[in-house]
Amino acid sequence: MKLTIIGTGYVGLVTGTCFAEVGHQVICVDNDAAKVALLQSGGLPIYEPGLEELVNRNVAAGRLHFTASTADGVTNSDIIFIAVPTPQLPDGSVDLSFIERVAREIAGAMTSYKIIVDKSTVPVRTGEKVAETIKRYCKTKVECDVVSNPEFLREGFAVTDLMKPDRIVVGVRSQRPVAAMKEVYAPFAAPIVVTDIHSAELIKHASNSFLALKISYINAVSVICEATGANVQEVAAGMGMDERIGRRFLNPSLGFGGSCFPKDLSAFVQIAGQLGYDFGLLKEVQKINAEQMNRFLKKITDTLWVLRDKKIGVLGLAFKQNTDDVRMSPAIELCQRLQKEGATLRVHDPKAMDKARPLLPDATYVEDMNEVADGCDALVIATEWEEFRQLDLERTRKALSHPIIFDGRNLFDPEEMERLGFIYKSIGR
Ligand code: UGA
Repeated sequence: MKLTIIGTGYVGLVTGTCFAEVGHQVICVDNDAAKVALLQSGGLPIYEPGLEELVNRNVAAGRLHFTASTADGVTNSDIIFIAVPTPQLPDGSVDLSFIERVAREIAGAMTSYKIIVDKSTVPVRTGEKVAETIKRYCKTKVECDVVSNPEFLREGFAVTDLMKPDRIVVGVRSQRPVAAMKEVYAPFAAPIVVTDIHSAELIKHASNSFLALKISYINAVSVICEATGANVQEVAAGMGMDERIGRRFLNPSLGFGGSCFPKDLSAFVQIAGQLGYDFGLLKEVQKINAEQMNRFLKKITDTLWVLRDKKIGVLGLAFKQNTDDVRMSPAIELCQRLQKEGATLRVHDPKAMDKARPLLPDATYVEDMNEVADGCDALVIATEWEEFRQLDLERTRKALSHPIIFDGRNLFDPEEMERLGFIYKSIGR
């Protein structure tokens, strides 16, 4: 099938590439000419495991193309996916201006029937607005169908999530586009859930909010564990064995971050409010998340007392493992707050150092994770990178001026760390 994806961010680029991988002809459009030039020359604007190889293979096979022209994309495809950013506005609502502009551009280029699919995360009822806009701005008055097809990929696992999805959600306003949408997704061998367009839009916000709620729940439980001497890892393992609950997303942390959960929670609370419902439950999820960071910082100041003139090593800058994305990263917030208290930082991240530099210009960037602790008063683990488990602990203990580790991701065993001579403070244990 001939498919166009507008927007080459984490969602658009990976989606387009995976569509090409299963045999579709794909055009990826971006209005950032420099990004398009980079992609055309074989470079990638983001780090995502497995993506580079997939892009190269599909470009070489002639199935994946990049252009800055929306008109090219619209003319040469039957189905147009919108995957542009929907950032948060200062009041917590969603900025839909990119979606609206793309809808007008598509309308202006349409000369035959098209299926327009929204993949960006949007408030319920956005599909209706997109359909109205296209109808208004399409001079040729050709028909189109607008579909909601939310994306559930996680950064850092995007290729796997896309190639082996749990489900595909297709929200429609009529049955006409359903067969074509099923054909697009047939190679992925996943259940396809067809709903009305509002329900599909809601499935996305409700799913992300529920996952964030699950994290805040275990983070709240971690506070009770600390107060009682219980171990949150054991509580999570015991809870997770109940199939109705499940173990995933019960990892305590210094809070969730990234470009999705914080933004989507705010948006869902806002939308609910506009519809006359006070979503107090989700406001509490946000509150617990903010408190979790405060509590972690308090652990650091309770131990180190004054932070002015202290040198702290920080492992992890990305908002989670396997990505170079630092947007709304709890690790960055933690670093900024430590610096505000007067600490100087030595930091390391396997992939996110370049993107962190503008946000933390005064930190010292260390290439080797084993050298971060050198001369520091304490070491902090802020991102759950698997490779941090391989840290040379013997060297780290000797390198620290005091053998103190604050682990915001519970990567190590507290008993083992004490045996090795560390003062080791983690979450809920
Ligand atoms: C999230 C959802 O998981 C995806 O299904 C969704 O498609 C995506 O948002 C989106 O809307 O585009 P993502 O933000 O990439 O994916 O990352 P997650 O793996 O969900 O992690 C989000 C945050 O929660 C990270 O800061 C992570 O460290 C934290 N987290 C996650 C925890 O603190 N504990 C956990 O158990 C799991």
